[in-house]
Amino acid sequence: MTAINASRTTHRKVLYGGDYNPEQWPRDVWEEDHAAFDLAGIDTVTLAVFDWALISRGEDDYDFTVLDAVVERVAESGRQFVMATATGALPPWLAHRHPEVNRTDFDGRRHVYGQRHNACPNSPVFRRLSARLAGKIAERYAGHPQLAAWHIGNEYGGACYCENCAAAFRTWLRERYRNLDRLNEAWNATFWSHTFTDWAEIVPPNALSEHWRGQNHTAFQGITIDYLRFTSDAMLQNFVDEKAAIREHDPSTPATTNFMGMYRPIDYHRWAKHLDFASWDNYPPTDRSEARMAFTHDLMRGLKGGDPFWVMEQTPTITASRDINPLKRPGVLRLWSWQSVAHGADAVLYFQMRQSRGACEKYHGAVLDHAGRTDTRAFREVAELGADFARVGEVVLGTRTPARTALLFDWDSWWASEMTDGLNRTVSYPQVVLGYHRALWEAGVQLDVLPVDAPLDGYDVVVAPLLHMIKGDTAQRLRAVTERGGSVVSTFHSGRVDQDTNAFLTDVPGPLASLFGVRVEETDSLPGDVVNRISLAGVGPEQTVTATSVFEILVAEGAEIVGTYGDDFYAGRAAVTRRRCPAGGSAWYVGTLLDPDGIAAVLRRALADHDLIGPYAAEPELEFAVRSHGETRTAFLLNHADTPVTVAAHAPGIDLLSGRVVAGGEQLTLAPKDVVVLQETSAVPGSSGTDSANQAIPRSSNSRCSGDS
Ligand code: GLA
Ligand code: ZN
Repeated sequence: MTAINASRTTHRKVLYGGDYNPEQWPRDVWEEDHAAFDLAGIDTVTLAVFDWALISRGEDDYDFTVLDAVVERVAESGRQFVMATATGALPPWLAHRHPEVNRTDFDGRRHVYGQRHNACPNSPVFRRLSARLAGKIAERYAGHPQLAAWHIGNEYGGACYCENCAAAFRTWLRERYRNLDRLNEAWNATFWSHTFTDWAEIVPPNALSEHWRGQNHTAFQGITIDYLRFTSDAMLQNFVDEKAAIREHDPSTPATTNFMGMYRPIDYHRWAKHLDFASWDNYPPTDRSEARMAFTHDLMRGLKGGDPFWVMEQTPTITASRDINPLKRPGVLRLWSWQSVAHGADAVLYFQMRQSRGACEKYHGAVLDHAGRTDTRAFREVAELGADFARVGEVVLGTRTPARTALLFDWDSWWASEMTDGLNRTVSYPQVVLGYHRALWEAGVQLDVLPVDAPLDGYDVVVAPLLHMIKGDTAQRLRAVTERGGSVVSTFHSGRVDQDTNAFLTDVPGPLASLFGVRVEETDSLPGDVVNRISLAGVGPEQTVTATSVFEILVAEGAEIVGTYGDDFYAGRAAVTRRRCPAGGSAWYVGTLLDPDGIAAVLRRALADHDLIGPYAAEPELEFAVRSHGETRTAFLLNHADTPVTVAAHAPGIDLLSGRVVAGGEQLTLAPKDVVVLQETSAVPGSSGTDSANQAIPRSSNSRCSGDS
């Protein structure tokens, strides 16, 4: 995959550009567009994402006149293009002639037409015609020297509950379970008299069936989680259908689709192997989402085993879809774009190159506004970034992000923990994961975010927050980490259910109990404003932190107690434990939702034991990330703070952005939102400060856990 940029294109640099829809405006404007793109260093445009109706007005009616002209003009400009399969939205004629292509929603409403990302994934007509369209487009543009990649569909998501989906679900279930006895057992169907005697009795779980109380409330987790898996697979099949159609004409140009980061409805880990490279659309929920974006970049990079990915979309200024749409402040576009590269992006693309004239995104930010001005702040920042990318050139292309710490992420655990009665519904899976991630990020840890079935061999510390569902050999592989001297950290609500979402008929945390040397006797769940004080001893200086929401009362069975509750009837009982493993590492179990200081204390102790704390960990808003290739290391220092920060450089090097030569240990001052891209001039093994090995480094107390949007 690392050859994508190198071999196919003449642009040996971070690719720069974005979604370009000139079919929406007159041709004389195209000239203006390209002149501006030249000024901004734009080398790559994505075409035709929503062009189904432009290209085809009927089953056997394909007309490429306009798209040909667009491609020709782009090619003339020397730019390369990413060609979409144009299936992101249904054309009206198709919805009208074949109503089955429209979705039936969660409430059972049969849609008539409208919007986008609107096809039933199991409609035979949609499957046939979307694949045919992808094939026609591939036939036309395969082999074009400036074709960089294929962009299949767009932001796959949502769900459908129509009759075609019900039938396909039954087929999917037959393949999974083979017989109804096995299915009934998996779903624990004896409960509430749900034993199925015929496949035809099974209906999709929505508001009309198991979900009377809403999306997150199901009477049976078994059918609900299976429907989520099935929907993810059904949309994957749409992707696979279109990719196969492309491959009939083009055996090798890499194909992707734009993911949405932490997007609940689709299990991207189930998709990953079908993509040639990962790409995603970065629209963070707030303007202080830097830790969350770092996490998401790492999650997306983890889809393809650490290979570089693309940021397929980000806005240069505002998004239009929110009630209130703040501008990116000066410097933020540059900072966030370099953050993407720091985490492994080899392309940084926008939605969109020019604003649409009409419809719901006409005010969405773009490189060019309706007037096409190039003398605006926004355009200047876009152009300066384009010049930066040109200056830095190919240095980081194809390089990796070395990490010895892993954070596990699991869609099944997300779904199951948020759709189960009896836990605490105010605690969300992403919120817990992001809380742990933030502490790692502030400690400057180089991190991989991995699926639970990824090999864990290269990691010294594995953090698995809220590992609710234990599938396959995950428990054994976590144990193996400690058996070779590594450490593992997990939290409350872990080890609760098997792959079918049924409880283990044993103590909690089930298969993880012996690893952590702990047993959960009871679990208390309280409103978020009820605080329990936790005294932590043995993770650094003795301190009191707070915990909320979930309180597991732990019994240590082989572990030592490092945190105890201070309040309520379980005052004095264990809240946090550590089992020291014979090979030297530890298994940490955190039975409650600690505040950010508490999480940081535990994680910094675990990290320090393995010398994994980054060199700038005393400055939580100064992000540190490294990309490397052999002995060559490029370090990124990203100042997310609103104030300047001064640090001693961790290594000598050259700042590729300013050209400044930096000596190791030299005082470096970064202005607010400033970036240093340090090409290190001596290989530095590891990245930790030498004095961090045996002490927990205190963190500043003003940072907060970022919530989910
Ligand atoms: C998504 C879509 C784009 C556009 C942007 C707006 O990422 O893929 O077509 O709608 O959102 O933010
Ligand atoms: Zn359907």
